[in-house]
Amino acid sequence: MLRMKGLILSGGYGTRLRPITYSQQKQLIPVANKPILFYAIEDVIEAGAKEIGIIVGPNKEQVIETVKSKNWDAEIDFIYQGEPKGLAHTILVAEEFLDDEFVMYLGDNILREGIVEHAKRFKENKYDASIMLTEVENPQDFGVAELNEDGTIKGLIEKPKVPPSNLALVGVYFFKPIILEACKSIKPSWRNELEITDAIQWLIDNGYEVGWTKVEGWWKDTGKPEDILEANRLILDDLTPEIRGEVKGEIRGRVSIDKGTKVNENSMIKGPALIGRDCLIKDGYVGPYTSIGNDCEIINSEVEDSVVMDGAKLINAGNIVDSMIGRGAVIEKNKSLPKGGKFVIGDNSWVRI
Ligand code: G1P
Repeated sequence: MLRMKGLILSGGYGTRLRPITYSQQKQLIPVANKPILFYAIEDVIEAGAKEIGIIVGPNKEQVIETVKSKNWDAEIDFIYQGEPKGLAHTILVAEEFLDDEFVMYLGDNILREGIVEHAKRFKENKYDASIMLTEVENPQDFGVAELNEDGTIKGLIEKPKVPPSNLALVGVYFFKPIILEACKSIKPSWRNELEITDAIQWLIDNGYEVGWTKVEGWWKDTGKPEDILEANRLILDDLTPEIRGEVKGEIRGRVSIDKGTKVNENSMIKGPALIGRDCLIKDGYVGPYTSIGNDCEIINSEVEDSVVMDGAKLINAGNIVDSMIGRGAVIEKNKSLPKGGKFVIGDNSWVRI
């Protein structure tokens, strides 16, 4: 086991995931029926962290309650950030906690291969900091690294208009406490945030050793609805089938159904698909790459490639694809007069019919 602390970020407003994030902290959105944040906590524990600080912001009570609902093999503290002022700012907020080497993990990132190998490389090479890079098609949306000919890092730039390479910074960073000095020395960026890329650049400029490792498996930064659906697909690709519910309908492929869930004889579930506890699937079809939470009803409706959260109901709803359905949401065919679509939907929702 490698000794290091863990700093996991679970603040911010998640504006690109509205309306879901009006009521739910972004990092708590379920991917394959598990809050995104839990994947980060598991990775950090697997890498050896026994003490973890979780940065919380706007919906701190929710995050604390959700994390505390499980027993973790580490001591977890919560650190309140107040206004989100950038990733480097979170390090300053956590200054007291960060008296040792640590891994900083953005709580909205998911990585297939975990971080154990990357943590080892950081330790073995005694770097002052180590970043993780991966090739992407849209480097302008991330922090980007430029390498020297010998493969060392020349520089880092946040969301460049003209990217110097296609190597994006993954949201997992290894640091020695010197990063605190770097975060104190930099100025806010054009988006008025203290950027972690600028703090790492400060280390490079001041002669500190910054290493990097390459992420070979998939990586997802779940900022937008399509990212959540993609992360859900990637996780379901590795689903282990397990049927604990009462299933009379047809099951095809890898399907997991939790206890208390009923699937009637006129229903079909086609994997990879995951259905939580106490759901009712009646005359329904649940297609590939769908995760359905607990206490949901799918009645005379079809759903595929979607994330359906706890308590949602699809009743005579036709065919639902590529969708994120929030907790307790109901989609139902209108049978009363006047005919036509009837909606009660939250701010910034969108419906495509
Ligand atoms: C942040 C970092 C960026 C990194 C990305 C990874 O971006 O600033 O360098 O590539 O996370 O998820 P943000 O999510 O703040 O736009």
